[in-house]
Order: sequence, then structure tokens, then C-alpha cells
Amino acid sequence: MPKILFIGDVVAEPGRRALATVLPRLRDEHEPDFVVVNGENAAGGMGITPATADEIFALGADAITLGNHTYRHREIYPYLNGDKPIVRPANQHAGNPGRGWTIVEDGTLRLGVINLIGQFGMDHEGNPWDCADRIIREIGDDCDLLLVDMHAELTSEKVMTGFYLDGRVTAVVGTHTHVPTADARVLEGGTAYCTDVGMTGSRAGVIGVVKEAIITKLRTGMPQRFDSATGDEHVMGVLVDAERDGRATGITQLIVPAGE
Ligand SMILES: [Fe+2]
Ligand SMILES: [Fe+2]
Repeated sequence: MPKILFIGDVVAEPGRRALATVLPRLRDEHEPDFVVVNGENAAGGMGITPATADEIFALGADAITLGNHTYRHREIYPYLNGDKPIVRPANQHAGNPGRGWTIVEDGTLRLGVINLIGQFGMDHEGNPWDCADRIIREIGDDCDLLLVDMHAELTSEKVMTGFYLDGRVTAVVGTHTHVPTADARVLEGGTAYCTDVGMTGSRAGVIGVVKEAIITKLRTGMPQRFDSATGDEHVMGVLVDAERDGRATGITQLIVPAGE
């Protein structure tokens, strides 16, 4: 039975280090057919660079998804237009660098990876649901499995996306908030769903940033330097079990400490 391992937002060097420690263990234990990693915070906590993307691919990711921080580093722009399986939200401006979906293969299986972004508080163009309809029409027949990374702030937008795409995709996995939600389940139509799979990085900070800076910022409103937190690193994600026809049969939440 096909298995997809999806890992939430890798935050800065502590997140990449945690991924390097834990991913080989997860691959040995679960033997996923596909590994998809959200890398929107991989470089210094915001955005991704060619070097950090290469690092994530070298660890065994089959595809990388992104989010609202996609365009933070200019050097990634040509990389997004290259031939690597890295995707940015599909419902961002059509002229922006990169693509919103990709197809990766493992033996006889083909996985379509679609990245969407929510409308609330995010730069977006068009609504993510019409965009998903168009992409599924375009690539659905060519793929055995489809995975949607819904990168959004609002739980309502994400829950609605799960129901809207239920039965049409293998999984809808939420990212961006960096805090995992306890609602992983397979919906009635056979789509695995989780509102937010959480982040990969330090739990000692506030969603990846040194806690003292956020405490001062929120209490006083004064600008602070946002350094990435270190310590108590975890890898967070979900493991999706599916049939070869693309229907999910299970989803398991993973919150794995990187320490010994
Ligand atoms: Fe993020
Ligand atoms: Fe984000």
C-alpha cells in the first residue's frame, strides 16, 4: 500500500538538523513511497535558498512545498523555474517565479503535489479552491495519488478545503501555523486530512523564533531581531496510507523529538 510522509515547515538550521537526524529513522521505520517537505522557513527562518533546498532533497525529500515566505531570497527564483520538484502556492500571481504543482514518480506510482495558499492575511491571486479544481482537472488523470499542501492561517479555510476536496485527492495537509492540530483523520470520501501538521525545528521558541524577542515584541510593540530558536527540536508531520487508486485509508500524526 502506498505511503506518503509529509513533513511540516522546516525552520532554519535547527529544523534542517532535526530533519537530518530524524528523517532516516522515519524512512527506515515506515518505508514511505514518497517524502514531501514544506521548506518555506528553511533558510534563516524565512524563505529558502538553493543550498537549503538541495540540503532537503539530499536528505531524501521527493518534493518541496512552500508558502508565504517563498520569495524572501532572490537566489531561489531561477531554482523555482528549474527542473527540481519544488512548488510554490499555485494561487499566487501567475507571473511569479515557480510552479504550483509537480508530479513525482516512484516505480509505478505517480504522486501529484499541489501547493495552495489561504486568502486570509496572505498574498494570493484568485481563490485556492477554483485553482485546485483547475489543477486536478489538468493532472488528476495522470496521477495515482494527489497531495495538497494548504498553507493558511485560518483553521476554517483549511477545514473547508479538506471537505471541498474530499474524494478528489489523497490528502489535504495544512501548514503555516507551525502548531500541530489534533484532528488528523480520513474524511468520508477517502481524503486524509490534518488542519496543521506542525513544524520541524525548535519548540523552545515561539513558532521557531527566540522566545525573548517575541515576548518583548508583543508586550512593548518595539521592533526586535528575530533569531531562530534552538533546543528541544522536533520533526512534525503526518504519514498517509493510501490505496493505489488514490483513496486514503489512514493518517498518523508524527511528533518526533530529534534528541537522543
Ligand atoms: Fe512556516
Ligand atoms: Fe507560512
